[in-house]
Amino acid sequence: MSLPLRPSSDAWVAAALDDLETLLVDHAHCERKAAATALKLIARYGDRPRIVHELSRLAREELVHFERVVAHLEKRGSQLRALPSAGYAAALLDLVDPSERLRDELLVCALIEARSCERFVRLASAAAERAPELAAFYAELAQAEARHESLYVELAQTETAHDARAISARLAELARLEGEIVHRPAQPLRMHAGG
Ligand SMILES: [Fe+2]
Ligand SMILES: [Fe+2]
Repeated sequence: MSLPLRPSSDAWVAAALDDLETLLVDHAHCERKAAATALKLIARYGDRPRIVHELSRLAREELVHFERVVAHLEKRGSQLRALPSAGYAAALLDLVDPSERLRDELLVCALIEARSCERFVRLASAAAERAPELAAFYAELAQAEARHESLYVELAQTETAHDARAISARLAELARLEGEIVHRPAQPLRMHAGG
C-alpha cells in the first residue's frame, strides 16, 4: 500500500477479529464486487485495449479470491449469505467528477484496493494467533491488492491526458475523503467501514 490512507482504527481490527464470520461474508462480497466493477469498466471503455486486457485479468483474479474466501467460510462451518452494504463504494463513486469520469473511476478503484490492502496487512498480524490460516491468506491478498492499486493508478495516467503530478494531487484529495467515509460512525462490521 503506497497511498496516504488514514489508518484503520484498533477498534475496527478488534471488532473484525471478534466476528470473523461476518468479516468473511462481507469480504467475499467485496471480491465479487471487485470483479464486477472491472467487468463494468470493460463494458464502458471497451475501445481501450489496456483496460480490456488488464481488467479482464484482474476480474479473473478477484473471482479466484472470491472462491477462496467462500472456501474459508465453508471450512469454518459457514457459507455465503446476503449482507446489506455499508455504502462505501457508492459514497466514493459519488465523488466522481462527471467531466473526468474515467480518471476518477480508476482512482476510486485504486483507493478501494488500497484500503483492502491496508486492512489485510492489519488483519494478517492481528489474526496470527487466533486464526493462523486466515492470517497467511490475508498477507497473500495484501500483496495482490497492492498490485491492483498500482495498476489502477497507472491506468488513470496512461488512459487519460493527466501527468503523474496531476494524478497524485487528485488521488490525495480523494484519499482524504475516503478516510472520512471509512471512518463514518455507527456502521456494522464491514471490510470497508467502521473506522
Ligand atoms: Fe481481491
Ligand atoms: Fe483487488
